[in-house]
Amino acid sequence: MAHPDPYTDDIQADERPGEVPKDDPHGHWEGMYATKAEDTLSWYQRHSSRSLAYVTAAASWASPIIDIGGGSSTLVDDLLARGYANITVLDIAEAGLAKTKARLGAQASRVNWIVADIRHWHPPRLYEVWHDRAMFHFLTSAEDQAAYLAALRAGTTPEATVILATFAPDGPEQCSGLPIQRYSPQTLASLLGPSFRLVEETAETHTTPSGIEQRFSYAVFRRDPTA
Ligand SMILES: C[S@@+](CC[C@H](N)C(=O)[O-])C[C@H]1O[C@@H](n2cnc3c(N)ncnc32)[C@H](O)[C@@H]1O
Repeated sequence: MAHPDPYTDDIQADERPGEVPKDDPHGHWEGMYATKAEDTLSWYQRHSSRSLAYVTAAASWASPIIDIGGGSSTLVDDLLARGYANITVLDIAEAGLAKTKARLGAQASRVNWIVADIRHWHPPRLYEVWHDRAMFHFLTSAEDQAAYLAALRAGTTPEATVILATFAPDGPEQCSGLPIQRYSPQTLASLLGPSFRLVEETAETHTTPSGIEQRFSYAVFRRDPTA
């Protein structure tokens, strides 16, 4: 039996897509959430402990917080349990958000849900805390990255905290079978530019449900209103 390759085999074989049209990842993600149990997805975490620590360090209970590409992440469950009252979860896949809503039951009505492709989304308001674990790294073209960064700038307060978690330079080259861009906190910082100051960083190894280790970079930025 072949051994899994940590650079490409980050996922169970059935998570690998066929050809995903580069400009339409929507079907891939809907299909993934529709056909797989959330705790079998390669990115599954029972608790997003590091994200939770960074978000709660930055937010007061009333702070507008957004989780970009939140999918079926349990981050929102843990924030609600701690009393955070102004949470938005955005994802391209309605099926991913549906899993989270079903898990939360009546509590789901306390969250703002947005089904949108971040590349075409115009934030209707400002967020004090912007969190993204393993969404931004799917944007591999300069054009898509620029669209994301435009949404980030348009959707954050002048002193917002931005928490980005991506595959690290020594992490896999694919996620969910799709090509990704790997980053260090420093390469993320140069992409975000001087108006976002890198204030904290961590390297983390995530173990997928099938037992494969994936290296992540976590980077925390503070928006600098003077830059
Ligand atoms: C690897 S999963 C990570 C999910 C979640 N952040 C977590 O850590 O459990 C990537 C998520 O990003 C979403 N996504 C991918 N491309 C997107 C896009 N262009 N706009 C919004 N969401 C997107 C997917 O549907 C999926 O839920």
